[in-house]
Order: sequence, then C-alpha cells, then structure tokens
Amino acid sequence: MDAADSDSHQDNDVQLIDTVKGNTVKNTKKVLLATLAAGSMLALAACSGNAGGGDGGSDGGLIGVAMPTKSSERWIQDGDAVKEQLEEQGFKVDLQYAEDDIPTQVSQIENMITKGAEALIIASIDGTTLTQVLQDAADAEIPVIAYDRLIRDSENVDYYASFDNYIVGVQQATSLLNGLGLTDLEGEPAADAPAGPFNVELFAGSPDDNNATFFWNGAIDTLQPYIDEGTLVVKSGQTDFEQAAILRWDGEVAQERMENILTSTYSDGSTVNAVLSPYDGLSRGIISALTDAGYSVGEGWPIISGQDAELDSVKAINSGEQFATIFKDTRELAAVAVDMAAAILNGEEPEVNNTEDYDNGVKTVPSYLLESQIVVKDNITEVLVESGYWTEEEING
Ligand code: GAL
Repeated sequence: MDAADSDSHQDNDVQLIDTVKGNTVKNTKKVLLATLAAGSMLALAACSGNAGGGDGGSDGGLIGVAMPTKSSERWIQDGDAVKEQLEEQGFKVDLQYAEDDIPTQVSQIENMITKGAEALIIASIDGTTLTQVLQDAADAEIPVIAYDRLIRDSENVDYYASFDNYIVGVQQATSLLNGLGLTDLEGEPAADAPAGPFNVELFAGSPDDNNATFFWNGAIDTLQPYIDEGTLVVKSGQTDFEQAAILRWDGEVAQERMENILTSTYSDGSTVNAVLSPYDGLSRGIISALTDAGYSVGEGWPIISGQDAELDSVKAINSGEQFATIFKDTRELAAVAVDMAAAILNGEEPEVNNTEDYDNGVKTVPSYLLESQIVVKDNITEVLVESGYWTEEEING
C-alpha cells in the first residue's frame, strides 16, 4: 500500500466503521484492513460479531481450524486470532495443531469432518498431502479455505487467504540491500551506495510449502542484478533453491547449514556480510551459527533478514542481531479467512483480489492477498507497537 492509499484509508476510517454495523462481510474486512493500515485497533472490536451475517451472525455451526505446529509462535498467534474471531461471530471452533506431522494433520481434519464441521480453515504442513481428506470434505459438502499456505493437487480447495508471497520475498531481499547501504527500504538505489563486493549467503523455506518458492523467486529476482554486476557474491556458490531450502522451516537445520558454509567457505579469513533468511526461526539458527563461529554484533556482523515478526526476533532486531523481519499481521489474515468462511456459509461470494497467481496444480484458487511490511529497528514502534501487535513491555522484557 502506498502512502496515498493509506491516507485515503485513514480518511474513510470513521465512515467505514459506521458502515459496518449490521452489514456485510465485505465491508467488515475493508474496515479491518483500512483501520489496521491507519494504525488504529478500533476496528477489531467494530468488525467482530457481524460477518456471520445479520445480527449475531451464525447458527453456531462448527468450523475446523487445522494449524501446522505450535513450535513456531506465529501459528499460535494465527490459531488464537482465527478462533477468537470465529467465536465472536457465534461459531464453535475445533482448533488443532499437528506438530509438523503430516499423518497427524490428516487425521485431525478427518476428525473435524466426522464431528460435522461446516467449513475447514487449513494451514497445511505439506501442501501436497491432503488430496484424499479434502475429497472426503468435498463429499460431505464442506468448503475448504487454504490458510496462508496454498494446498496443492486438489480441486477441493475453495479459497485461499494469504499475503502477496512474491512481494514478501522482494521485501526480504530489499531489507538486505538496505542493510548493506545499497538501497532505501523501497528498493531505490542509495546515492552513496558502497561498491562492495559483499559476501551473501542464501536460505530458502521448506520445499513442500508452496510459499517457499514464491519468497525465493521474489528475493532472487531482486538480488540477481546485484549478483550479476558483482556487488553481491554468493561465495559458497550455493545459489539453487534445492541447496538453500530448509525442510519444515527447521531452525536447527538452518544453523547446521550455516555452520557448514562458514567452515567450507569462510575459513580463509573472509567474512559473510549478509544472509537472506525467509523466516525468523531460520534467522535465529543462523545467528547461533555465526555467534558460535566467533562473529559478534557490531563491526563485521552480517545483515540478516527474516519473516513473521516473532517476538524473539523483534528483540533481536532491537539488539542488532537481526536487521529486519517482514510483518504479516496474523489478525488481518484471520479476519480474511473468517470472513471467507462466514460468507460461504451465508451463501455469499467471498471477496477475492487475485484469481491468477495461485495455481495449485489442478486449478487456480481464488485468493485474497494481504500486504506485508518491512520492519527494521526504526519502525518497530510504529508498525508493531502502535498497531497493538506487541507491547513495548513485551519487546523490551
Ligand atoms: C510459511 C509462512 C511464513 C512462515 C513459514 C514458517 O508458510 O508463510 O510466514 O511462517 O511458513 O512457519
């Protein structure tokens, strides 16, 4: 969202909040997005209780919510937000976490179907493994919303709620370029840009997560011109997605890979200047590897990116260990998914804003994509505290 956009959202705030009372799902989402963009939390209260349709919302039907794991803070935030917003609309919620175990997630979804869920909201572990259970859902006429991660290889995915994942990758790379002094946070070249060359190492997400290639492509497209002109050098030579990918987004595996790269490539006295990391949990593993290898924050400490604005990583940005993260507001994402479910159950068309980019191998899934934001030390307060995502005490505690 550009500045002009967000200003006009701000102007419309009050009017939109008025409009929402007793009104449609569509308006509800607009209010939430507009108000969050303006840094106000008023709409969170205003929006709840209506999207179930009419006064008091739903008939109290059950919605199954399948989340991948509790080992990452972001999914706990997601699960809590989806549950809370569904309950505010009068739904009952079966919220399950599968601890990154695929058979567990499949059986949790099967259970939801057996219990009579009226809709399913699913953040998959492996986007390709739910084909059979989603067929069972379709046979029982249960609509399915893919949450954050696209579910692949199934025609029985009705809608997709996510962020613009390619742009997330662009933002991750841009944060690295900014940290190195090469661009501003919009990606515009800096007037006094250093010549480099800078050594950079690249990490990617889990290869079974559809998002991982979107993040990678956005990041690589952004970094490639700098690699081509020699300003950035991937000294390990590991430039393929397959070499960079970290199964299940596991921080320990990222730590190990970083240790191996430091040993194999940087034992000659050279140093790594930047690390592209697509997720805060990986960044923390990378930071441990660097610390163990004798790097310390200050002169010579590399620029490290991230994603999700997890609390420990926001603290790490404050202390200079991590340079940036990408904030994807889990409350906004929850609101989109909840509104989609409520709309379908009310016989309405959920609002979508992308019908082109998310082909799951069988069909292009109609999607609503939200916008993400780069967070660096300077805008933690503005982006994370003023929006109520984290409190000053949590960040400084
Ligand atoms: C992705 C998600 C990221 C990050 C990652 C690891 O699917 O889009 O925001 O959370 O999983 O959990």
